[in-house]
Amino acid sequence: LQLLSVASEMYPFVKTGGLGDVVGSLPSALRSYGIHTRTILPGYRAVMAALEDRRLVENFPNVLGHGVHLWEGTARGHHLLVVDVPSLYDRPGNPYIAPNGHDWHDNGIRYAVLSRVAAYVAQGCIPDWRPDVVQTHDWQAGLVAAYLRYDGVEASPPVAHVIHNLAFQGLFPREMLETFGLPSEAFTLEGVEYYGQIGFMKAALQIADRLTAVSPTYAEEIQTPEFGMGLDGLLRARSHVLSGILNGIDLKEWNPATDAAVIFPYEVGDIVGRRANKRVFQAEFGLPQNPDALLLGIVSRLTTQKGADLLAEIAPRLFEHPIQLAVVGVGDADIMRSFAALQARYPRNIVCHLRYSETLGHRLHSAVDASLVPSRFEPCGLTQFHALRYGSVPIAARVGGLTDTIVDANTAATYEGVANGILFSPTDRDTLFNAIRRAQNLFRQKSVWARLQRNGALHDVSWEGKAANYARLFLEMVGRNPNEAE
Ligand code: ADP
Ligand code: GLC
Repeated sequence: LQLLSVASEMYPFVKTGGLGDVVGSLPSALRSYGIHTRTILPGYRAVMAALEDRRLVENFPNVLGHGVHLWEGTARGHHLLVVDVPSLYDRPGNPYIAPNGHDWHDNGIRYAVLSRVAAYVAQGCIPDWRPDVVQTHDWQAGLVAAYLRYDGVEASPPVAHVIHNLAFQGLFPREMLETFGLPSEAFTLEGVEYYGQIGFMKAALQIADRLTAVSPTYAEEIQTPEFGMGLDGLLRARSHVLSGILNGIDLKEWNPATDAAVIFPYEVGDIVGRRANKRVFQAEFGLPQNPDALLLGIVSRLTTQKGADLLAEIAPRLFEHPIQLAVVGVGDADIMRSFAALQARYPRNIVCHLRYSETLGHRLHSAVDASLVPSRFEPCGLTQFHALRYGSVPIAARVGGLTDTIVDANTAATYEGVANGILFSPTDRDTLFNAIRRAQNLFRQKSVWARLQRNGALHDVSWEGKAANYARLFLEMVGRNPNEAE
């Protein structure tokens, strides 16, 4: 089965978060189920630079007012199609945000062009290849389903839309309908209209043949007003085509025995072998080398989604105890300022790297005792997978995919020896504080803590079975027997 994956980021070329990780790691997992993926991306500078043996497959003189070269090639083993429009994509750095910290003013047209070209590819515009199924990711690829519907081309392939995060919806003024090349009939409740605006995410939720959320719990949550971001009614109406498939991670990227970012490599589950990493990390990060201090870490976007503000608020209370905190993250300016201020005030307790660093992100999970994920909502979350695999105990909010991956160390689960982390709810300052204090208590009981770490390391964080769920879905969408994916 041939799959066209449409996305705005892909690790290792361009990544702002888990979306990039998933788009980058799912194709190789799908291959073992007979699904062959070509990924279509915007021609960002980093993508153009990575593209090997490229050849021009199509030249569109005018796509929504822009001349487009469509390139095909490979990069790090991926089969890519690249939408090359230098005036839209040849920009360095974060794909969505301009150097002034605001969204690029032309994001609407940037992702409409990506989706428009992807729809042409889906309709068979390039020689010798046509996808059987199109998979679109988040709002940036949301218009693909709309173009396919309103073009009315017979036998276009079905679309499966992945909901990574409903908080980002891609809303634009109705006056842009023509700019986006959509007919006026598309501006209805059954089409792209969303409370008087054009909604890219909404369009996909309304029109795509199948919807998948990135965890089973998130698939349920988004059908409620609390987590539905205004789209819960629509999602309830389409619940018959909505399912949740948990993400996985690339076990080769995340292997503490071979990871160049890990100072003292160790096998997965070797909790004694990893100990030296805490000492050297404390030294490297300028924290007292105290083995008995509970060393907490967080690798995250520093936003309110991630509860980073709550962590900053309770930090002074934490530091009344033998607790250390390492932060690797970027995000909201005021949250970053709070962390910088904490570091100035409590240099023996907290160290912050307020930037994006894959290396430090990997190293952190290999060294800290526990990794924090205090999210207010979390569609899936990947950082808890990284923590589990590297022997750091996750302390996480009981929301979304965190619920689907972490077994809380309550009395029963600890007694049965099945716990692998700590969950708390609802997400607020006191519950977070109490969860960390509970962790500290467990941390003092060496054998209990070791059991949590070992269980975490045994937890299956791979793509294996999860990719099979996608494979079954795609086969079913084209009327083939889903059991072919076994
Ligand atoms: P989200 O996609 O909502 O940001 P996820 O947990 O799904 O959350 O994925 C985040 C990804 O980005 C993980 O791979 C995480 O390690 C990485 N990440 C986030 N912030 C940083 C940072 N400052 N430095 C390095 N990696 C980061
Ligand atoms: C989004 C979500 C995150 C998820 C990621 C990959 O960025 O916020 O929870 O893990 O997408 O699906």
